Amino acid sequence: MQMQRIEGIADVLRAVKAARRGGRRIGLVPTMGALHRGHAALIERAAGDGCFTVVSIFVNPAQFGPNEDLARYPRPLENDLKVAMAAGADAVFTPAASEVYPPGFDTWVEVGGGLTDRLCGASRPGHFRGVATIVLKLFNMTEPDRAYFGEKDYQQLQVVRRLARDLDLPLEVVPVPTVREDDGLAMSSRNKYLSPEERVVAPRLYQALKTAAEAAASGERRASEILRRGVEIIETQPAFQIDYLEIVDGEGLQPLNELKPGAVMLAAVRLGNTRLIDNIRLT
Ligand code: PAF
Repeated sequence: MQMQRIEGIADVLRAVKAARRGGRRIGLVPTMGALHRGHAALIERAAGDGCFTVVSIFVNPAQFGPNEDLARYPRPLENDLKVAMAAGADAVFTPAASEVYPPGFDTWVEVGGGLTDRLCGASRPGHFRGVATIVLKLFNMTEPDRAYFGEKDYQQLQVVRRLARDLDLPLEVVPVPTVREDDGLAMSSRNKYLSPEERVVAPRLYQALKTAAEAAASGERRASEILRRGVEIIETQPAFQIDYLEIVDGEGLQPLNELKPGAVMLAAVRLGNTRLIDNIRLT
């Protein structure tokens, strides 16, 4: 069947209800567009699970700070439609900001501070409130059985899981592994901002995480020592400015002194005007 392009909230609900009546489960892949192979992996997974797959494309103003890149965030819609179709989407939902946030809109979703104030939340105040609000709204608009999120945005994934759990949302949050370029750089719509020189440096971040993870794999338990190995690699590139590099428990995202099962290392660095985030599991 041909992929549908849907703009109205009432129309997307009609489409998913029709698909459900036809015996399909609904899979939602929420995105802000500028789709790359990481997004394609989410869509392929949803379609592979047999879901009627809705890809939402909405650059959500509520999750950008005043000095962030809302205005210049890439919006290559024609290409996005091609990527979504090739990956197996049944519908692409592109709501208008005026319908998502009509005049007078003033209800916000806050996931607890322990998960949202730290890490990315510390340098992007209000970001996760914007994410949680739009994600819950998208869930209400599309009534998914499953919603697919990339592990690349690890903190976001945990925030959405907590949202679903605490509000008893009748859906499954499905994590999908990070897709990387051949040199290890995690796919991100913001990689487009990197200059050619910065693009050469950027994969060092993943090398740092891998080096740290190797230390953990070979028996090192002290978080400080594992972090030191990572910092050492990052600091070989003066262009990087570390925002944070932390070892946390994989669910509550609280810092650990000693490794325990489920530990994850999370990193955010600035490279010129671009903020890169990445993460790796430590075993
Ligand atoms: O990960 C993203 O692209 C966004 O944060 C999301 C989940 C689509 C909410 O706007």
